[in-house]
Amino acid sequence: MSEPIALALIGGTGLYALPDIEVIERRALDTPWGAPSAPLVLGRFHDHALVFLARHGEQHHLAPHRVNYRANLWALHALGARRVLAVNAVGGIRADMTPCALVLPDQLIDYTWGRAASYSDADGAAVTHVDFGEPYGADLRRDVLQAARRAGVALIAGGCYGATQGPRLETIAEIARLRRDGCDLVGMTGMPEAALARELDLDYACLAVVANWAAGCDPEPRAITMDEVQANVAAASAGIPALLAALLAVA
Ligand code: HPA
Repeated sequence: MSEPIALALIGGTGLYALPDIEVIERRALDTPWGAPSAPLVLGRFHDHALVFLARHGEQHHLAPHRVNYRANLWALHALGARRVLAVNAVGGIRADMTPCALVLPDQLIDYTWGRAASYSDADGAAVTHVDFGEPYGADLRRDVLQAARRAGVALIAGGCYGATQGPRLETIAEIARLRRDGCDLVGMTGMPEAALARELDLDYACLAVVANWAAGCDPEPRAITMDEVQANVAAASAGIPALLAALLAVA
């Protein structure tokens, strides 16, 4: 595909393929950092070139701490993608971030550990200290918010994403701490993805899909099941194709 890629989409839990995409090629790439989570799906979506990558693999076999974030972003960059919209399933902490809501966070706090979190982390690599004060790309965030408005898709603007290690969900006390820290959402895959995107100078934003109440936040407390998570992500993701179409219409 020689046409420049208008958008890369990284799909998270519950979003392993993009509906409405006309698949042109599935490309298995290798990178200096190893293989990405899955073959990259190159396709056309509403007359634009788009690439899709399933973060956890197409069979959801990679736990958040085992995802090769470096390879994933490197591969998208190598294909020529410069705008990356990352879909992340999250738990809602703030009262309005209810299951099935879509949120475009503007801040994050990283609680993950032991993940390969930088391209500087290799012998002989130049050490860079990228500006990460605003962790998400301002241009893409603005365009996504406008697109949601045009498409009539409800999207909460702003919020702080707390990135936890997983794969287990958090304790009530851990979520209470995240809330005190200022987190509105909690997820396991937001970092180091966002930081690596910044190192590659990608315009990267996170589209958070609220799959469940975070531990202790449900007004009617009950156990969180994977089935509920999948069902809520599916329901919340229903608006994503319309949002993407509106986003690409002005690309
Ligand atoms: N915590 C962390 N990650 C998540 C959650 C959660 O409650 N739900 C979906 N991803």
